[in-house]
Amino acid sequence: MIDPFGRAISYLRISVTDRCDFRCVYCMSEDMSFLPKADLLTLEELERLAGAFIATGTRKIRLTGGEPLVRRNVMQLIERLGSRIGSGLDELTLTTNGSQLGKYAETLAKAGVKRINVSLDTLDADKFTALTRWGKLGTVLDGLQAAKAAGLAVKINAVALKGVNEDEFDRLIAWCGDEGFDLVFIEVMPMGDIGGEMRLDQYLPLAQVRAELRNRWTLTETSYQTGGPARYWQVAETGQRLGFITPLTHNFCESCNRVRLTCTGTLYMCLGQEDAADLRAPLRDGRDDAALIETIRAAIARKPKGHDFIIDRTHTAPAVPRHMSVTGG
Ligand code: GTP
Ligand code: 5AD
Ligand code: SF4
Repeated sequence: MIDPFGRAISYLRISVTDRCDFRCVYCMSEDMSFLPKADLLTLEELERLAGAFIATGTRKIRLTGGEPLVRRNVMQLIERLGSRIGSGLDELTLTTNGSQLGKYAETLAKAGVKRINVSLDTLDADKFTALTRWGKLGTVLDGLQAAKAAGLAVKINAVALKGVNEDEFDRLIAWCGDEGFDLVFIEVMPMGDIGGEMRLDQYLPLAQVRAELRNRWTLTETSYQTGGPARYWQVAETGQRLGFITPLTHNFCESCNRVRLTCTGTLYMCLGQEDAADLRAPLRDGRDDAALIETIRAAIARKPKGHDFIIDRTHTAPAVPRHMSVTGG
């Protein structure tokens, strides 16, 4: 499926739940209210929609959340989607906070998942608990070892936060090198009201970070591509890749290949725009697959050019009011 700007849309991100067992300070407010469970699509409905997307050219599906692994029986969906790898689907993967990997890593690998992205912003146990509001670093580190033992390739996602983890970037690069993980730094995006002028306080432009890292690490730009938004550099000292996701300092919308489905069947064509299409009503009205595919085509035909994220003194309100956890990034 080609969108109005000539971009092939082949990557579907499905947020299977808006709930999470953590409350990262840059992602959620402390008193987040979550969707009533009755509004959620069933796992069978999500699978049917995924099938309709595969029929329109989706080749990669990433499950996100909130935290995807806290959705009840989510492994059933993962196993069902995994069975489509090789017949229409090239890749099934997920972005997780790692808290449940000890329990699920092996089942994920058996279901056909080859690599996972794990969000980890700090290696300091106290800081980790403060950032996630109550998470335990040890649980995530154990989960990562379980992922390694199961043969899953791991990419660590770290949101770059001024005054919070900027003193740990070298440590994260070295640790990822020791563990055999790729690492991606992400610019914080102005999504969801998390209170006051916090975004401006947190925002760290990654162009500047990369320039500083070059004083201590030998970085060579690569053409490595995962189909996601990161641009990757090879770190000579560790042998691992270091990626940067820079929606603010280096917009990548012109190569966008993705859309996002929420757990209530809302399809967002862009992370940074509010326009959306409802797929739950046609699904529940008993429309056939051809009608669902037509609804998806009509939605993709209005995919916007890109986001309007800005963070500066005159733009302290969120660019979009919905929280990152609604669409899983
Ligand atoms: P790979 O398949 O490994 O490339 O993963 P990915 O980068 O596509 O997915 P992941 O869930 O790890 O996303 C990492 C970060 O990139 C998250 O903070 C997402 O919000 C952000 N991200 C992913 N896609 C987009 C996008 O289209 N626009 C913007 N602005 N951010 C995005
Ligand atoms: N800006 C950038 N990244 C964010 N994430 C959550 N909220 C934000 C935000 N406001 C990240 C998580 C996770 C990924 C899915 O999105 O840390 O790695
Ligand atoms: Fe949960 Fe991820 Fe949001 Fe943290 S960033 S609260 S782990 S969804």
